[in-house]
Amino acid sequence: MDAARASKEQIVAALREILPAGGLLTAPEDLDRHSRDWSGDHFGLPLAVARPATVGEAAALMRLCWDLSLPVVPQGGLTGLVGAAVAEPGGGELAISFERLNAVRSVDPVEFAMIVEAGCVLENAKKAAEEKDCLLPLTFGAQGSCRIGGNIATNAGGMNVLRYGMTRDLVLGLEVVLADGRIWNGLKVLRKDNRGYDLKQLFIGSEGTLGIVTAAALKLFPKPALVETALLGLRTVDDAMALYARARRGCSDLLTAFELLLRDGLEVAMHARRDLADPLQRPYPVYVLLEAAASREIPLRGVVETVLAGASDLIEDGVLAASRAQAERLWLFRETMVEAQGRGGRYLRTDVSVPISKLAIFIDDSLQALRQRYPEALALAYGHVGDGNVHLNVIPPVGASAETMARLFEGAEEVIFNVVDRLGGSISAEHGIGRLKQKAFLKRSDDATLDLAQRLKHAFDPKSLLSPGRILPAPARQEI
Ligand code: LAC
Ligand code: ZN
Repeated sequence: MDAARASKEQIVAALREILPAGGLLTAPEDLDRHSRDWSGDHFGLPLAVARPATVGEAAALMRLCWDLSLPVVPQGGLTGLVGAAVAEPGGGELAISFERLNAVRSVDPVEFAMIVEAGCVLENAKKAAEEKDCLLPLTFGAQGSCRIGGNIATNAGGMNVLRYGMTRDLVLGLEVVLADGRIWNGLKVLRKDNRGYDLKQLFIGSEGTLGIVTAAALKLFPKPALVETALLGLRTVDDAMALYARARRGCSDLLTAFELLLRDGLEVAMHARRDLADPLQRPYPVYVLLEAAASREIPLRGVVETVLAGASDLIEDGVLAASRAQAERLWLFRETMVEAQGRGGRYLRTDVSVPISKLAIFIDDSLQALRQRYPEALALAYGHVGDGNVHLNVIPPVGASAETMARLFEGAEEVIFNVVDRLGGSISAEHGIGRLKQKAFLKRSDDATLDLAQRLKHAFDPKSLLSPGRILPAPARQEI
């Protein structure tokens, strides 16, 4: 049987045979629940939703899809923002959800490693690590919903990358179901292993296009006992970046976060939550959220205070949280701003990076160009400037028509990406390519890169069944 010729009923019957009760969802409300990601900008009903409960079931499922030539799209918590995990709108893709394959298999505080299944929600994995006095450092707004498999497939970043790295830096080993249903067992906790090609790296960040991650061995760190959080007001982004270099050294390399917000972003947060009052005596053009952490009793607070006092030429005013609750309140400005941007409907999201030394010029040039060309839109710049990564988002004016918005998003993205190109940056530092950024990605990729990428895809997925059309365009069916 070939999926292209079989009826939907025949495919569903074949899937039901290998997935026990509850393993296959076909009701319209279930399909709807699995048809969009957090951005709200992408929609695609899957043919059905397969929910393997074991790795063996996931492998048998993929083997059947291989035999049927049925394309699949793996789904985690659907918190992605570029349409990679949403089914192709044609309705021909089978969604594979990992919500039932979600166990924490082990946490080893001596090994500083844990083994987690793909469907484990990040927050649950973090809690399991904490129970053993360890830290799984991945931290971002979606952590209560996103799942480890998706974090790996997208090489997720977040708030603590400057100290602990991206997801890629945290993966010691992977277990992956391949396109033909074989299981690739690379689930090791070895820190050092130089035997030939490091294949797991290819799956990380591949957005579901090369294989289906079913479990991962992740690196852990000592759980911080001390955390210091400060919100600082500054005059310019240049000053913020000068502070970053100083604070990183001054805090004895214990900085865990260095996030930037501009005044209008802070105002968006305060407007959305009336209980958030201006955090400093008066408004400042630029704000920095700085966090440092240590795993044992050292005079961390004194260290941070000394750094801040020594940077009075850069810092206009600031508050160092006196308690965990106050620190959480400072982070609320950042979190609320992110949520609030979408309240009025669609907006342009970017997640670009440039060399850290060029970050201030990137923000200044982009904002100036955007304000000149689209004075009626609100451009917000914020993000993980310690990683050279900024979210430069553009919110359309209230009441803008669909066409006006489409024109604005296309034009504003081009303005931003042109500055990125000029400064030698990346059009996607965090969220990936998916379908949303494919055109911009292809336009910037040289022939050698594309040739290697296409050959890699073909080697791992010769029938083009794994999330076809994400990152690279899907080949025409007859070529497969
Ligand atoms: C953030 C996510 C959306 O930084 O990347 O808020
Ligand atoms: Zn981010």
